[in-house]
Amino acid sequence: MDPRAAFEALGTTEGRQDPYPYYDAIRAHGDLVPVKKGSLVAVGYRECTRVLREPALQVQDGTAFDRVYPEWRSHSSVCAFTDSMLYSNPPKHTRQRGTVNADFTPQQVARMRPVIEDMTTRLLDRIADLGADGSPVNLMDEFASRLPIAVVSAMLGFDADRQVWFRDIASAIAVSTDGFTDPAALATADAAMDELADHFGDVITRKRGCPAADIVSALVRLHDSDPAKLSHDELIGNMMLLLTAGFETTAFLIGNGALMAIDNPRYAALLRTQQPFAAAYVEEVLRFEPPVHVTSRWAAADVTMFDQHIPAGSRVVVLLAAGNRDPRRYPDPNRFDPGRANSQPLSFGGGVHFCLGAALARLEAQTALPMLARRFPQITLADTATYRDRWVIRGLRTLPVTTGRAVTASRR
Ligand code: HEM
Repeated sequence: MDPRAAFEALGTTEGRQDPYPYYDAIRAHGDLVPVKKGSLVAVGYRECTRVLREPALQVQDGTAFDRVYPEWRSHSSVCAFTDSMLYSNPPKHTRQRGTVNADFTPQQVARMRPVIEDMTTRLLDRIADLGADGSPVNLMDEFASRLPIAVVSAMLGFDADRQVWFRDIASAIAVSTDGFTDPAALATADAAMDELADHFGDVITRKRGCPAADIVSALVRLHDSDPAKLSHDELIGNMMLLLTAGFETTAFLIGNGALMAIDNPRYAALLRTQQPFAAAYVEEVLRFEPPVHVTSRWAAADVTMFDQHIPAGSRVVVLLAAGNRDPRRYPDPNRFDPGRANSQPLSFGGGVHFCLGAALARLEAQTALPMLARRFPQITLADTATYRDRWVIRGLRTLPVTTGRAVTASRR
């Protein structure tokens, strides 16, 4: 298949349902493949890694948007992302990321373990009630999507009673990361962002009057002490980013991990009984079914790598999910194997934008999946699990299960 046709197929419903054959079709033409004038696609593990670490290949910031989509300023959801660290380049990116880096180190995040355990126990209690009469329970709605938003809300210092609202708002806003292809979805994202920004205004006022030991209180203090360190728009943009970036992604990691364990009782048994297995299992779920399939970079200057000349202004699409299945890096890449040594999947990106929340996401999944397996040893699929019709952030829409007997008493 022509690489351009394979790449374009990734934007279709068929491509989104199963993108892997199209990744292989592009890979058949090389590991860094021109697909049209001014656009290359990185599919190899080594190529994706290198692109993400090349300083001249940058994220699409306001200046890049001005070139390709000048109307972006009329979309509040896109503006908020553009004010955040994810859509900024150094030195602005370095300054913004420095405001929260220390809150997300593995050591700092490890302190959240008891909170995550407690939240997981409460969610499992609720699922035990919902499924006690044999009714099917959608694990995506009742578990996978609830835990990440509860955890990140606690870290940021948001109201616990707004978690379901945050979850729905975050889902609507995240659509704007899929590009500008769907005007209706973008309008929904903008409306959700406006609502969220109003609420953030109230939160900022409250934290200013009554600061607490949470991330948003610290960011408000920093902004008030010196807006050059963090402007008002950057404060809102990064509050939105922290809320949304870790929500759907971690929900999909937990959902994918749960599905794989329900389908393979051997893995469920190991999760139940062997604590160290959880880390290897979660790494392989990340490699095999990464929640973020793709990101991209723009050439701020001419670059040459792997014998390809990349002129300034070109776009390089980084297929993280394809790099994770590069046969040169992972023997038998389409086989799920938690026994792989030194895996290091590309699922959290790389370089200066390496996922800020990687340690948190891993901890949530490594905690939640064994607890789920222990609590419901008879859990089975009640119906086929279905994928959402999206590509960039890809994961399950439904995971209907019958819980069977719940064995572990709840701990509160
Ligand atoms: C399984 C879960 C997650 C996955 C797969 C994931 C994936 C990613 C990826 C691929 C990037 C880099 C994007 C790029 O380079 O263009 C990224 C960046 C980011 N992630 Fe995550 N993420 C996850 C969870 C989280 C969590 C829990 C948080 C925080 C609460 C978070 C916060 C961020 C932030 C703030 C950035 C931007 C970092 C920067 O630009 O310097 N993520 N994530």
